[in-house]
Amino acid sequence: MSPSARRRTPDTGDAAGEAVIEPSLGKALVALKPYLAEFPGRLTLALALLFVAKIAGVWLPQVLKNLVDALTPKDGAVLIVPAALLLAYGGFRFLNVLLGELRDLVFGKVAERAQRRAALKVFEHLHRLDLDFHLSRRTGALSRDIERGVDGISFLLRFLTFNIVPTLFEIALVAGILWQQYDVRFAAIAAISVVLYVGFSIVVTEWRTRFVREANTMDSKANTRAIDALLNYETVKYFGNERWEAKRYDDSMAAWEKATSRNRQSLSALNTGQALIVAGSITAMMWLAAREVTVGAMTVGGFVAVNAYMIQLFVPLNFLGFVYREIRRALTDMQKMFGLMDRVPQVVDASGAQPPLRTGSSPQVRFDDLQFGYSTSRPILRGVSFTIAPGEKVAVVGASGAGKSTLARLLFRFYDPQGGAIRIDGVDLRAMPQDALRALIGVVPQDTVLFNDTIEYNIAYGRPGASRAEVERAARLAHLESFIARLPQGYDTPVGERGLKVSGGEKQRIAIARALLKDPPILILDEATSSLDSSAEAAILDALQAATERRTTLVIAHRLSTITDADRIVVLDQGRVIEQGRHPQLLALGGVYAGLWNLQLREQGDAAR
Ligand SMILES: Nc1ncnc2c1ncn2[C@@H]1O[C@H](COP(=O)(O)OP(=O)(O)OP(=O)(O)O)[C@@H](O)[C@H]1O
Ligand SMILES: [Mg+2]
Repeated sequence: MSPSARRRTPDTGDAAGEAVIEPSLGKALVALKPYLAEFPGRLTLALALLFVAKIAGVWLPQVLKNLVDALTPKDGAVLIVPAALLLAYGGFRFLNVLLGELRDLVFGKVAERAQRRAALKVFEHLHRLDLDFHLSRRTGALSRDIERGVDGISFLLRFLTFNIVPTLFEIALVAGILWQQYDVRFAAIAAISVVLYVGFSIVVTEWRTRFVREANTMDSKANTRAIDALLNYETVKYFGNERWEAKRYDDSMAAWEKATSRNRQSLSALNTGQALIVAGSITAMMWLAAREVTVGAMTVGGFVAVNAYMIQLFVPLNFLGFVYREIRRALTDMQKMFGLMDRVPQVVDASGAQPPLRTGSSPQVRFDDLQFGYSTSRPILRGVSFTIAPGEKVAVVGASGAGKSTLARLLFRFYDPQGGAIRIDGVDLRAMPQDALRALIGVVPQDTVLFNDTIEYNIAYGRPGASRAEVERAARLAHLESFIARLPQGYDTPVGERGLKVSGGEKQRIAIARALLKDPPILILDEATSSLDSSAEAAILDALQAATERRTTLVIAHRLSTITDADRIVVLDQGRVIEQGRHPQLLALGGVYAGLWNLQLREQGDAAR
């Protein structure tokens, strides 16, 4: 891919909420197909059960008619209890329900598996998406969108297979029986009312969709605000802004309330309209049947059966209205999730990407005329070139915002550069699979965030499956053991959400421990000891010194005293390398680095005084 094609657009600040066209039913069907194909046996059995249940249901009014006629006094004849018919009636009723339950039993697993698969697919996709997406996402809205989307899939699956087609089949069956048994006029009334009902339902449901969408948006927004405020609990307290946060949350909830109540009102309108059509058609049909009975063309049993058929017709039709409405809703709900799934990661593996041949030994890393900006309007790196020889330790220094961490992110391939390249042993990063590249690199990031789990879990994260002994060794190297020994729960101490229950320095040492546990040939230390006091820092630097000996290392540091032993120091300014060399060389040069060094010396002197 050409560098210009990878240019990213300026951040819109809402990665998960871009305008997405609502997924069509066709698209949804394509998405559902693999889930249905997973259990062909269950699907067939469930459909068979369904059709048998429908046929049993269609016989009910017929049995009812015979019952009523048997009980209607004919001149002189003695009435007897029609036992067989009564039993048949009860049997058919029970069968109808039983078959429905059996069907749910058989099909339930298909829907649940689909939910599980869909959720996993989204989860995996989220991890494939680039850092840019994740930096601009809104966690609260995202989780709600996914939740709704996954539910939508399961819903569509259940209802598309079991309602639309079978209900149409049932309606056709009933209309056919009405025509064949009674009169074409009955069938005509049935047909007209079905058309009216369906037409009305479609038009009104389409109109309602935007209320559903609005309610969804408001729900996601309120959730975003709630999660954001909770994540910033401390900040809220520092500034005494509980009321302000409550107000913001309540504003979102008020908008949600309004949207949801409009949604409900429109639903009421739909239901009322549908009921009117049903009542009208049943009245027309009964009117016709009553006239037939008065002229002797129809028995009372026939009258009862026609009524039963109409109900038999409208129950599924009503259901169809409900299902259509819910399908529209499911599609609306799935809109965001489909949008998410359609999002292409900015950083992708090139076709034919080859894992680097020799790993194990420490590789060479070369930054070659690197040009990069997070947005096109603001370049951060403008032609950065330097090399880290195998096993060498190179330090990058520069003002805050100079692009040091950006360099590390590019080496880890969180982003692709717009110009130039980074090569490991001469191979462009873009020509390697991302997982192979990332397996080579261990990072101690500038800001460490921990998983809300135990200390052991967080250290072992460096290499899942590492033994307790290995975890302890890494903890020892990172000078964590005395801290852990003092904890009542030791390694099993929970660190809290994002690791906020351990101190900044402890968090940083956990990050060092897990990077050491990963034991990678390339190491990136981004201000890895910035939160430590001087004595802890000195101790860890010793440990890191040992750890970085055999590794190709990129160190980023503000405190220059921590990098005087580097094989080379690169000074970054305004996106360019302005000086590079060993510590004594740079001092002798008397440039920016020497100035910074003297400044820090003086500060240290002041502090010591
Ligand atoms: N995801 C991003 N989107 C847009 N701009 C960003 C992003 N990340 C960083 N920047 C900007 O890029 C510039 C370089 O950031 P970088 O994190 O590389 O700085 P740094 O040299 O590591 O600074 P510090 O010493 O403070 O850590 C900064 O001005 C920052 O505001
Ligand atoms: Mg930084």
